[in-house]
Amino acid sequence: MKIRAAVLEEFGQPLVVQDVELAAPKAGEVLVKIKSCGVCHTDLYTASGVDPSGYCDCVLGHEGAGIVEEVGAGVTSVQPGDHVVTLFSPECGECVNCRSGKTNICTAIREQQGQGYLPDGTSRLSRAAGPLRHFMGTSTFAEYTVMPEIALAKVNPEADLDAICLLACGATTGIAAALWKAEVEAGSTVVVFGAGMVGLGAVAGAKLRGAEKIVVVDISDHRLELSKQFGATHTVKGGPNAVAEILDMSDGLGMDYTFEATGIVDVMAQAVESARMGWGLATMLGVAGKGETLDIVPRLLITGRKVQGGSFGGAKGRTHVPQLVDMYMSGELDLDGFVSHRITLDEVNKGFDLMHEQDGIRSVIQFA
Ligand SMILES: NC(=O)c1ccc[n+]([C@@H]2O[C@H](COP(=O)([O-])OP(=O)(O)OC[C@H]3O[C@@H](n4cnc5c(N)ncnc54)[C@H](O)[C@@H]3O)[C@@H](O)[C@H]2O)c1
Ligand SMILES: [Zn+2]
Ligand SMILES: [Zn+2]
Repeated sequence: MKIRAAVLEEFGQPLVVQDVELAAPKAGEVLVKIKSCGVCHTDLYTASGVDPSGYCDCVLGHEGAGIVEEVGAGVTSVQPGDHVVTLFSPECGECVNCRSGKTNICTAIREQQGQGYLPDGTSRLSRAAGPLRHFMGTSTFAEYTVMPEIALAKVNPEADLDAICLLACGATTGIAAALWKAEVEAGSTVVVFGAGMVGLGAVAGAKLRGAEKIVVVDISDHRLELSKQFGATHTVKGGPNAVAEILDMSDGLGMDYTFEATGIVDVMAQAVESARMGWGLATMLGVAGKGETLDIVPRLLITGRKVQGGSFGGAKGRTHVPQLVDMYMSGELDLDGFVSHRITLDEVNKGFDLMHEQDGIRSVIQFA
């Protein structure tokens, strides 16, 4: 079928929205009509050419939500009409990692997905100039996409797709990190570095868990102000003095849970240094640049601090995303507040510009 899609033709150049040919779903695959898709930093990172594992030509986009249109042979868990959130991190339920229950890093289709192909090692996307690869196994900057069944979370069809598409990446990463990866306890103290989509998600998750003190650190006054809307009880200006301020706020001990959501390794170190001696748990969520390393003074670990990280905040997509949608529907979780701009597919490059300018939290592409 012919669809409109945003193609990364060349690194460092604007995406080109054009007619693309999408082949029918094969066994284990599903055709999804995309209704909404957030524009995330990872799309921009790949488009810029800086990502060492990036590839083109491909159809970008990974923060999608839509409606199942058609299913391939053997697909049993979704059917036409189902509302789904796309997952760059699948959950097969059968690989060693999935069966362990200890991690969300499913290995079922990792290799092919990493190279831009569907699980059988081929692509369903092409255009006159030749074949195109799938981005992150999702390619949701498109009117329709074909994805593996194990990478779709079936969700409550009543939920607004413009809001819940954010659960395909940014929002879930922060919220799940607080709820399930760090398991923030009621009455605890929390500090979140970085008040973008990911950090604010961690703030929302900490609030849901009943944290008593939620400190947000950012260099942007505007973002600090915004964080109060999601549950921040205190704010601290980011920079070299941030750790000292946090220690001052906690009798010199540090906070029970710290989250890093900036992608800056120096800030990651601050997140470790702000964790409470004895049991403080520092969770890294940001993606650092190629070759960068995190320096930790070992004494911080000997004295009881723990460090962890999580892709997608550790969320198991098919298990946790439907639960988060239900929390959104019951009013426990605000997702609408994250949607700052609604744009069309033709305006996708404007979505990147808005991100550069730090204008709003998320731009969401709306499809017809
Ligand atoms: N773990 C995952 O699976 C996953 C998923 C999505 C995004 N990410 C990563 O998470 C990070 C955050 O993503 P985002 O979309 O929220 O980004 P964002 O750019 O919207 O937010 C980052 C925030 O950090 C702030 N900041 C910059 N320097 C700072 C400093 N010194 N101290 C405190 N704050 C500072 C910025 O002002 C900004 O508000 C990125 O690195 C992104 O790549 C990871
Ligand atoms: Zn993303
Ligand atoms: Zn698996």
